[in-house]
Amino acid sequence: MTHPALPTARLGAEGPLVGVQGLGCMGMSEFYGPTDTTESLATLDAALAAGVTLFDTADMYGSGHNEELIGPFVRANRDRVVLATKFAIERRAEDPGHRGIRNDPAYIRSAVDASLRRLGVDVIDVYYMHRRDAAVPLAESVGAMAELVRAGKVRHLGLSEVTGAELREAHAVHPIAAVQSEWSVFARDVERSVVPAAADLGVAFVPYSPLGRGFLTGSFQSAEQLAADDVRRTQPRFTGDNAAANGGLLEPLRRIATARGVTLAQVALAWVHQRAQVHGLTVVPIPGTRKRSRLAENTAAATLELTGEELALLEPVAGEVAGDRYPSMAFTQVGRE
Ligand SMILES: NC(=O)c1ccc[n+]([C@@H]2O[C@H](COP(=O)([O-])OP(=O)(O)OC[C@H]3O[C@@H](n4cnc5c(N)ncnc54)[C@H](OP(=O)(O)O)[C@@H]3O)[C@@H](O)[C@H]2O)c1
Repeated sequence: MTHPALPTARLGAEGPLVGVQGLGCMGMSEFYGPTDTTESLATLDAALAAGVTLFDTADMYGSGHNEELIGPFVRANRDRVVLATKFAIERRAEDPGHRGIRNDPAYIRSAVDASLRRLGVDVIDVYYMHRRDAAVPLAESVGAMAELVRAGKVRHLGLSEVTGAELREAHAVHPIAAVQSEWSVFARDVERSVVPAAADLGVAFVPYSPLGRGFLTGSFQSAEQLAADDVRRTQPRFTGDNAAANGGLLEPLRRIATARGVTLAQVALAWVHQRAQVHGLTVVPIPGTRKRSRLAENTAAATLELTGEELALLEPVAGEVAGDRYPSMAFTQVGRE
């Protein structure tokens, strides 16, 4: 049962009903500094108790570790958890920085079996293509994903970092329940083509990194402050002069947060939820946290209403952000638009 404090929303016309905010589990395994398994597992339980039902992982998070970590929690709560995982980014044990993009049907068939095995479940609720390899015809990849639905291994399909045109093409092959791409006060390139396409097709939007990977919360000013292996050290907007300039852009969030007696994180999340109304589509952000305290804070933001004046203060921010979202934008939707 979903907690009454968190409204629900449907992923696509035929997809599952989920709490209107999900939980990103990635940081529980990798990328954002030291992890704490006990607190991470307690955060999963706290999320479910708060009405969060969409739990987001991927096969590449910790090279399988993240799926293995959340597997027991998913199995213990299988009737309430909506489990989302992803394929397409191949890693190599001997080369930690390697990222190969694979969309070919044979790879998809082996990836789903590996995910099911690590998770210890019979079926994945939402199976996303994590990145698009334009060398493989999209209809072939989505066709292979549709076969997984027919085989009962997957219930619904999703795509990540696709263009509006790619979403339309895929949706014509098999209904797509959700698109997952970066969308926040700091990252609005999706509003150009894929958001309007999703609104048009009735596909739900699952914004990832809605807290700008933590930068929008004011908890770090520059990635140079973070652990040596923190992935944000490689992301252009969080380092050097860009980080200093972007820190100044948090001022309107800070003003709103102070006036409303809420946190910067809550303002950032409320903004994402309210963009749904502007674009006329369902939005289910998946802020990532490994801590129960932040889970409670973030969940409360799902029902925070910003005024028109506050939204206007935030409107110009994304246009002023210095630096790209990734070191290379080639494998984002921007690279193909
Ligand atoms: N499809 C894709 O390509 C893709 C890419 C990236 C991420 N994702 C998914 O999206 C999820 C969310 O994105 P994300 O984790 O990259 O970024 P995010 O949600 O924007 O930010 C996460 C960061 O913010 C911190 N944080 C969370 N709540 C906070 C709060 N209230 N106050 C201060 N700091 C807070 C977290 O630290 P603590 O954990 O210490 O709280 C973490 O460092 C991921 O977990 C993953 O499932 C998908």
